[in-house]
Amino acid sequence: MTSAPSFLRPLEGRRALVTGASSGIGEAIANRLAAAGATVIIVYRSHEAAAKRMVANIESTGGEAIAFRADMAKERDIKSLFAQVRKTVGPLDILVNSAGMESKRAFLTMPVKDWDQVMNVNLRAVFLCSQLAAQSMVKRERGVIINISSVHAVLPWAGYAHYCASKGGLEMLMKSMALELAGKGVRVNNVAPGAISTPINNSWLHDAAKLRRELKRIPLHRIGRPEEVAGAVHYLASDEASYVTGTTLIIDGGRSL
Ligand code: BGC
Repeated sequence: MTSAPSFLRPLEGRRALVTGASSGIGEAIANRLAAAGATVIIVYRSHEAAAKRMVANIESTGGEAIAFRADMAKERDIKSLFAQVRKTVGPLDILVNSAGMESKRAFLTMPVKDWDQVMNVNLRAVFLCSQLAAQSMVKRERGVIINISSVHAVLPWAGYAHYCASKGGLEMLMKSMALELAGKGVRVNNVAPGAISTPINNSWLHDAAKLRRELKRIPLHRIGRPEEVAGAVHYLASDEASYVTGTTLIIDGGRSL
């Protein structure tokens, strides 16, 4: 039995699936939603031990979580993930599409397989997961979908044409979903982080010269914490955001100004 939602645990009784949840921003989001009372489905691809550790940690603090493996590049994996979740956990209230990838490739020589890989994980998987989640959400006339985008949905980035195109596409996918689902009880929004301290940025976070160059571009003059992104997702997932759909919350220390 779940108790009524309280001010401290506003997501009590809700089921939230988070992709890319075993590290970085996704990990912070999963932990935050669990702390807010949601039952969290932690979806990982390769970090099984980390995902299991997260489940144990959440359970040790009185929360509920379960881990499932799925490769977001594979439609088959995504379909079987949602079928298993439906059977073992129940219908979703919240979907957070946080799985993402980036690779530096010069536009002039970018192999099509790298283009496809980034598009498949960053954009196609969001379409597939959101479609499966929304098909069940509209039946109950309730649900929230949140996608983790990037400042590079609007800021071009040399060496990352595929990444920027995927995040720009995610902006219009989000808005189109928000419009089609608004009358059916489902809200859809994006959160667009800037430079956040996560493993994806390891190559420059620990290099003093590169870090200095990056900090120059950030008006708040510091790198963001994954928890600062998770706070925005928590807000959008909660009833506090009941009138918010079709928008992008930018969490970037002013990077995109
Ligand atoms: C990328 C990071 C980058 C940040 C700011 C994000 O979308 O994932 O690698 O540091 O944008 O440029």
